[in-house]
Amino acid sequence: MAQILEKQVIVEEAKESNRKIEAKSITFGYDDVTILNSIDLEVKEGEFLVLMGPSGCGKSTFLRLMAGLDEPKSGEIIIDGKTLTNQQPDCGVVFQDYSLFPWLTAEDNIVLALKQKVKNTKSKKELRHIASEYLGLVQLGQAVKKYPGQMSGGMKQRAAIARALSFGSDLLLMDEPFGALDPVTRVHLQNLLLQISRDQQRTIVFVTHDADEAIYLADRIIMFSLGAEGAITTSVDVPFKKPRNRKLLFESKEFMRFRDYILTVMNRGLLDNLEEGNEIRSYGEGI
Ligand SMILES: Nc1ncnc2c1ncn2[C@@H]1O[C@H](COP(=O)(O)OP(=O)(O)OP(=O)(O)O)[C@@H](O)[C@H]1O
Ligand SMILES: [Mg+2]
Repeated sequence: MAQILEKQVIVEEAKESNRKIEAKSITFGYDDVTILNSIDLEVKEGEFLVLMGPSGCGKSTFLRLMAGLDEPKSGEIIIDGKTLTNQQPDCGVVFQDYSLFPWLTAEDNIVLALKQKVKNTKSKKELRHIASEYLGLVQLGQAVKKYPGQMSGGMKQRAAIARALSFGSDLLLMDEPFGALDPVTRVHLQNLLLQISRDQQRTIVFVTHDADEAIYLADRIIMFSLGAEGAITTSVDVPFKKPRNRKLLFESKEFMRFRDYILTVMNRGLLDNLEEGNEIRSYGEGI
């Protein structure tokens, strides 16, 4: 009983302090290789947090830990005041590889996921209605009956986004969700996500390699860089007020300066090796 009360107090404290996620001293690796070493991070309720960093530095790994799909070797992840142990939090996730079932249509992929969430409280007809509504929102209204094998990469990505949004969870974890989209669709979905974040106060953790996208969307950017013993993270607040006007923002000198700064921090050490004059020492044998 005392333990239950203690937990309740912690949950209340988390609510009051406006903390959605707390990662405390997270260490994780594969075999003998450490990917994340004692990472601390807090995400505020309603915050739009973007993770950036070079390929292989551990962004997806970190997202999987927050989604409860892997367990840290040490440290803890606390969501809404509760430590994740062998369970997944209530959240919508967009995986880097989309993770759609190939034998189900776009609509049925969403219906299946929703069914598991709502148990038996909604009929299949109602779930289909929700699924097609969200597919329409990501401009896939014409493709509800298509199987993943009949969809382009960008269409599959949008189906995965629709599935994550349809969950209605107030936490969204999105791993490069717009990477396969053409520029016009990408802008449409960026604006949709900003609107959802603003109107529904959802907390969003979003991975991207695109600095412009990161600055346009984020309240704060966490930059991962490769360290000798796992990733090093640097947190930077985005100094531009929301709502942001895309055109004015991208044309401003302050934006250019901030963008340069972000890229410099993120690519610390990496770009030096690509400077002109630095020979590439191994060309490989070729065929
Ligand atoms: N299942 C696995 N088994 C072994 N090593 C893995 C596994 N998954 C990822 N890794 C390694 O963990 C490291 C971090 O991978 P992760 O996918 O988190 O990188 P990332 O920052 O998301 O990269 P990208 O920007 O390319 O998506 C990489 O070195 C990768 O090779
Ligand atoms: Mg990744």
